Amino acid sequence: MKIMIKMTASEIRQEFLDFFKSKAHEIVPSAPIVVKNDPTLMFTNAGMNQFKDYFLGNKKSPYPRVADTQKCLRVSGKHNDLEEVGVDTYHHTMFEMLGNWSFGDYFKKEAIAWSWELLTEVYKIDKERLYVTIFEGDSREGLPKDQEAYDEWKKFISEDRILPGNKKDNFWEMGDTGPCGPCTEIHVDCRDEHERNSVDGRTLVNADHPQVIEIWNNVFIQFNRKKDGSLEQLPAKHVDTGMGFERLVRVLQGKTSNYDTDVFSGTIAATEKITGKKYDASIGDDKQAIAFRVIADHIRAISFTDGQLPSNTGAGYVIRRILRRAVRYYYSYLDYKQPLLHQLVPEIALQFKYVFPELYQQAEFVNRVVREEEESFLRTLDKGLKRIEDLVGDNKAASTVNISGRDVFELYDTYGFPVDLTRLIATENNLVIDEAGFEAEMKKQK
Ligand code: GLY
Repeated sequence: MKIMIKMTASEIRQEFLDFFKSKAHEIVPSAPIVVKNDPTLMFTNAGMNQFKDYFLGNKKSPYPRVADTQKCLRVSGKHNDLEEVGVDTYHHTMFEMLGNWSFGDYFKKEAIAWSWELLTEVYKIDKERLYVTIFEGDSREGLPKDQEAYDEWKKFISEDRILPGNKKDNFWEMGDTGPCGPCTEIHVDCRDEHERNSVDGRTLVNADHPQVIEIWNNVFIQFNRKKDGSLEQLPAKHVDTGMGFERLVRVLQGKTSNYDTDVFSGTIAATEKITGKKYDASIGDDKQAIAFRVIADHIRAISFTDGQLPSNTGAGYVIRRILRRAVRYYYSYLDYKQPLLHQLVPEIALQFKYVFPELYQQAEFVNRVVREEEESFLRTLDKGLKRIEDLVGDNKAASTVNISGRDVFELYDTYGFPVDLTRLIATENNLVIDEAGFEAEMKKQK
C-alpha cells in the first residue's frame, strides 16, 4: 500500500493521544483487564467498560472528554475471538483499544469529523481505501436508520462508500445488559491495486476478508439494555469509540498481518531464538506459523492480567485455558518440550514499560507464576495428547459425536485439558466432542 509512513507502533499510539489532547480530551490510564466490580463482566472487553457508570448517569465524570489506550481481552461472553486467534492474522485475545469519549458533551458531528481528520490528515490513510458503515435501523427494536451519521459522513466521503449495516454489526452492546447504541464503523481496504481493480472493495466490507478490515468503531451511546431485553433512553447522549491498535499499526506500516508489525516482531524473534525454529509469515495455515502467532498473542493475554493467577475457576481459569492452549502449540508444532512462555515475559515487560508500567513492575512475579503453570501442564500434556491420539484412532469411522463427554471429562480432570483445548484438537482431527455429555459429567462431579 502506498499510504506507508514509517511510524513505529509507539509513535502511532502517541499520535492518537496527542490528537485527542489537542481536542481538549483528558488522557487517562487504562483500567485493569480483570474486572472486579461488575458482575456482568469478567474481563475488560472494550475501552468504555470503566466509564459505564458515567454513561448510565450513576456518576459524573470529572472530565467531559477523555481518551486512552485500554488493555482489552475478548475471550469470554458476548465478545469472544479465541478460536480465530493465530489462525488468522488480525484477531487477538488481548489487544489495545484506542478510544475517545464524550460524556454528554460532543456527539456525532464532532466524533465523525475527528475520526476522518485523524485517519486521513494525521495518519494519511488514502481516502480511496476507506469505507464507512452506518446503522440501517431495526424495526423489531423500533430503531430508525442513523440518518444523522449518514449526513455527517456525506460531508467527507462519497455516498457510495457509506454502507448500511444491520443490528449485529452496527448496534454496539457491551454485554447482555448495559449502555449501547448505534455505531458507525470505519473499514480499510489494504488489498493491492490489481485486486482492488478486479473486486469492488465495498462488497468485501464485513465479509471476513483478511485485507478489508474494520479499524475503528464510533458508538453513539443513547440506551441502556435492561435485563428484560428492553431499551431505555439514557438521560444524556455520549460518544464511545474503539480503534484496534494492532490493526491500525498494521495498516500504517503497510503490512498484511498484524504479526508482521513491531507490536509482535520482538516476541516472534525471541521465540525463534529460543526454539531454533523460523517464523514463515507467508504460510497462512501452516501449523508452525500458527504456533508462532498463538504464542505471540497469548503471552500478552497471560502477562497483562494485573496479578490474576491461573486457577480452576472464573477469570483465573480463562487465563489457564489461554496458557495451556499456547503450551500445546509450542509442544506439538515447535517441538519445544520445556517451559517457553515465561521466557518471553521480560521482552513484553520492556516493550510496554512506558505504556503499561504495571507489568514491568511485576515482571518477576509474572515470570515465576507462568513458569510454574507451564511446568505443571507439561507434566501431563504428553499423556493427554497420547490419550487423544487413541481416541482419534478409535473414532475414525464414527459419524457425529466422536469424543464422549466422559472422555472429555477425563482429559479435563486427569490431564488438565480445558474443554476448548480438547475441542480444538478434536476439530483438527475432524472429530466432534459431546459438549452436553461433558457438562453432565462436570455437574456430577460438583
Ligand atoms: N465500544 C466500542 C467498541 O468496542 O467497538
